[in-house]
Amino acid sequence: AGFITVDLSPMKEGEVQTIQWRGKPIFILKKSADMPKNEKRDITTGGSTYAVMIGLCTHLGCIPTWMPATKQFKCACHGGEFDASGINTFGPPPRPMDIPPFKIDGAKLVLG
Ligand code: FES
Repeated sequence: AGFITVDLSPMKEGEVQTIQWRGKPIFILKKSADMPKNEKRDITTGGSTYAVMIGLCTHLGCIPTWMPATKQFKCACHGGEFDASGINTFGPPPRPMDIPPFKIDGAKLVLG
């Protein structure tokens, strides 16, 4: 119980999908070539790179919004910003967005 399987294969480069897992939003971003890879946080499967994170601001828990123009997540509550890998880059968030437990099974992401 509590496992969710997400098929990554329909995702387009630069696309973010948000799924609900245990009452929390999970952001899955398929990186485009112009987004720097974060070796510690990103995952690569099938030749594509993804960033997976719990979509809650590490300041006070608002849900940041993906901004395609600047390729970052922005938190409307107090102006916090995160890069495409979920690293805090500006404002009050004290740390990167958290990474949920997951496994990669081919083109599928298994959360939980
Ligand atoms: Fe996101 Fe404060 S809750 S910046």
